[in-house]
Amino acid sequence: MKVCLLSSELGPFAKTGGLGDAVAGLARFLAGQGVDLRVFLPFYSSARLAGRTVVPVEFLQGLTTELAGRAVRYGVHTTALPGTAQPIYLVHCPALYDRRGIYDDRGDEHLRFALLCRAAIECCQRMGFGPDVFHLNDWHTALVPLYLRTAYGWDELFAGSRTLLTIHNLGYQGIFPAREVDALGLGPARALLHQEDLARGRLSFMTAGILHASHLSTVSPTHAREILTPNYGFGLDPLLRARADHLVGIVNGVDYGEWDPAADELIAHPYSTADLEGKEWNKKALLEEVGLPYEPGVPLFGVVSRLTAQKGFDLFYDAIPELLARRPARLVVLGSGEQRYEEFFHALGRAFPGKVRFHCGFSNPLAHRIQAGSDMFLVPSRFEPCGLTQLYSLRYGTVPIVRRTGGLADTVELYDSAAGTGTGFVFDNFDSQALRWALDYALDSYADRAKWNGLVRNAMAQDFSWERQGPHYLDLYRRI
Ligand code: ADP
Ligand code: GLC
Repeated sequence: MKVCLLSSELGPFAKTGGLGDAVAGLARFLAGQGVDLRVFLPFYSSARLAGRTVVPVEFLQGLTTELAGRAVRYGVHTTALPGTAQPIYLVHCPALYDRRGIYDDRGDEHLRFALLCRAAIECCQRMGFGPDVFHLNDWHTALVPLYLRTAYGWDELFAGSRTLLTIHNLGYQGIFPAREVDALGLGPARALLHQEDLARGRLSFMTAGILHASHLSTVSPTHAREILTPNYGFGLDPLLRARADHLVGIVNGVDYGEWDPAADELIAHPYSTADLEGKEWNKKALLEEVGLPYEPGVPLFGVVSRLTAQKGFDLFYDAIPELLARRPARLVVLGSGEQRYEEFFHALGRAFPGKVRFHCGFSNPLAHRIQAGSDMFLVPSRFEPCGLTQLYSLRYGTVPIVRRTGGLADTVELYDSAAGTGTGFVFDNFDSQALRWALDYALDSYADRAKWNGLVRNAMAQDFSWERQGPHYLDLYRRI
């Protein structure tokens, strides 16, 4: 099996959210299965290389490709996917990738990611590598099917290649002014683009991918159904419905090598189901680290998230201050993003100084310590294609409180206190009343420690490893 995998993110080099985790985990799984794999991502100047050796690939230097009417120069560097001998390829083009972060607002995102698409195809040509599958992830890589049909349509090397576009987040579509079409070097491809989009003056990478990829997937079965509806389709549901028989949902795997409470080097006290006391020690350590008082029996909620509308923190506005005033509990939040949410959490911290800490920023070590030290983990998302943080919290015995949507619905089962079954607290409606119900149910359950420990063990026993989830991708590759 020959697979070419493209992504704008791949942890730990480049990650803003779950895309980076999911693609790295999948790549590691595929490499372990003996798949002949070529992985491409941009060589951002912000890449977190942490002392790793990155070397130029000799025969992939001084290349040019045509974008925006000029020859864009690029080269390719390589490094190993951490924990493997699998090389990954970093497209080096300082003119486009020398920016403060992974994404940028200078108005040339279409060129930055068109280059990724073109460079991956051109490098496959130079390697004489005809993939069985080009596996594309999100809008940044979604032009590949169109390029294969147009600019590179002449190349027999790709005659047998199929394309799979995995939609991690339909909320980001890569929409640009239609006049930019010519900049992409698609040749006479106008007719293949979505005509209604063009008529409205828009060019959408995601739409092009949905129209032209051989197959589509998203990152959970529930979300695969949701995106066919206007509520979750972000305007693309009619197109997706037309392709529904080529769309599947596969829940992401978790890299338990990185997220394992028994072997996590980033936490103070490793623990397992056999030793839940260790978890309490992590709670003490976390509270001390963030400067909140520890009191036995007082539960701690954790949040680690991008702070965007997707994540549902609007529900906190009413529910959380009221809850904190009414019941003893603590809350630690790690996240950054939209100003309104950052301001809300800053204000919450000021209103409840002994109960709430907000760490505004991005910190992987702190994310691990919040997973380990909290009793419950909050994910009230408006929509959630898969969600990884609730999978980490399950493994860390940090009982997830989630809204029943997308991958959250597929991975967390509502606790039944009478039967002792289930793995977390799941509410349906996107309103603060429903969240309040879940919070109260969770706090009431926490009061009975013997039963609570049963729930924690249920959660920790869940297996969302890549060993289990990865074979679904292999099956899909074979099918397409
Ligand atoms: P999304 O991709 O929509 O952000 P996921 O749940 O799939 O949501 O993945 C989020 C990933 O990003 C997790 O690995 C989470 O720990 C990480 N993450 C999010 N925000 C932060 C942050 N502020 N600091 C550290 N890690 C974060
Ligand atoms: C997206 C989604 C998230 C998913 C991640 C990895 O960022 O928002 O739900 O887990 O991609 O697939």
